[in-house]
Amino acid sequence: MANTLPDRIPALVQALLKAELHLHIEGTLEPELAFAMAKRNGVALRFDSVEALRAAYDFDDLQSFLDLYYEIASVLRTERDFHDLAAAYLERMAAENVRHVEIFFDPQTHTARGVAYEAVLDGLSAALAEAEAARGITGRLILSFLRDRSAEEAMATLEAALPRLDRIAAVGLDSAERGNPPAKFEAVFARARAEGLVAVAHAGEEGPPAYIREALDRLHVARIDHGVRCEEDPNLVARLRIEQVPLTVCPLSNVRLRVFDSLADHNLKRLLDAGLLVTINSDDPAYFGGYLSTNYVETQRALALEEADLVTLAKNGFTASLLPAEAKAVHLAAVDHAYEDFLVTQDPHRLP
Ligand code: ADE
Ligand code: ZN
Repeated sequence: MANTLPDRIPALVQALLKAELHLHIEGTLEPELAFAMAKRNGVALRFDSVEALRAAYDFDDLQSFLDLYYEIASVLRTERDFHDLAAAYLERMAAENVRHVEIFFDPQTHTARGVAYEAVLDGLSAALAEAEAARGITGRLILSFLRDRSAEEAMATLEAALPRLDRIAAVGLDSAERGNPPAKFEAVFARARAEGLVAVAHAGEEGPPAYIREALDRLHVARIDHGVRCEEDPNLVARLRIEQVPLTVCPLSNVRLRVFDSLADHNLKRLLDAGLLVTINSDDPAYFGGYLSTNYVETQRALALEEADLVTLAKNGFTASLLPAEAKAVHLAAVDHAYEDFLVTQDPHRLP
């Protein structure tokens, strides 16, 4: 492969067709939109301005982020709010050449404040349907349980979702990881799988590799969200490679939440070179300094990824998605074509 010139990486990342599989819709709430919603809903924020809020985006760990994230989510009240939030994200993704997204939402964050589950679901679903019709971007919703709350509450959340289960593709597990092992949710995940939902779970972000094993063995997850701490257990790395368990890695998030000291210290390249099915994602882009393309570009720079790595990462996003096999095959071929077209634009003498 030709030597990678740094200045063509942003153009390559833009040209590649991409999927995003680890994205919390509440984490796309930009300060400007948060203030607009606070105003129209009559909700008071303790920050005086957009700038003051942004200045608070300096986190020590996952918990310090979650405290602010849940606080700001309190501006989300109506179906329209959830629609507008998702519509803004999907518009950005279409502009970045993202073709498929799988979106986490945390019903408990909202129902605990008196917001109806249907308002959340209907707002998000409407935005997804509009984006597919207008921009051809497909999307799925992943109902995520808050692991720092009880298993009983998670079960009640699942039961409340049963009448509209056709709108949900999967269940997930997020929020404060340490001290909240996957096994706590074994019964609710068993019920969700019995209802036909796929299971995924955050594991090995701040929590130990044992939580990754537990998510696989007790929750029967189809992929692991984050999973970067697997490296501490070589046998687990071997298992993830052999079983090709997808890891939805979020590089900028990991640096902002101090899982790694810097992007240059991130283990994404090592995991990729070890043969794991690694994908790049943004997690909570409004809080962590960049959406999907920025995660690709900054990770490439910090870890000196090859162009071939970027193509592999883009393809892994579709391979690891919940799309049916035929749709995956179409997207995978389209990524290869996009790269070929990109090479021609960079070198007009190259034969297509
Ligand atoms: N909720 C939103 N972002 C999260 C993350 N990175 N880890 C766990 N829970 C989350
Ligand atoms: Zn996450």
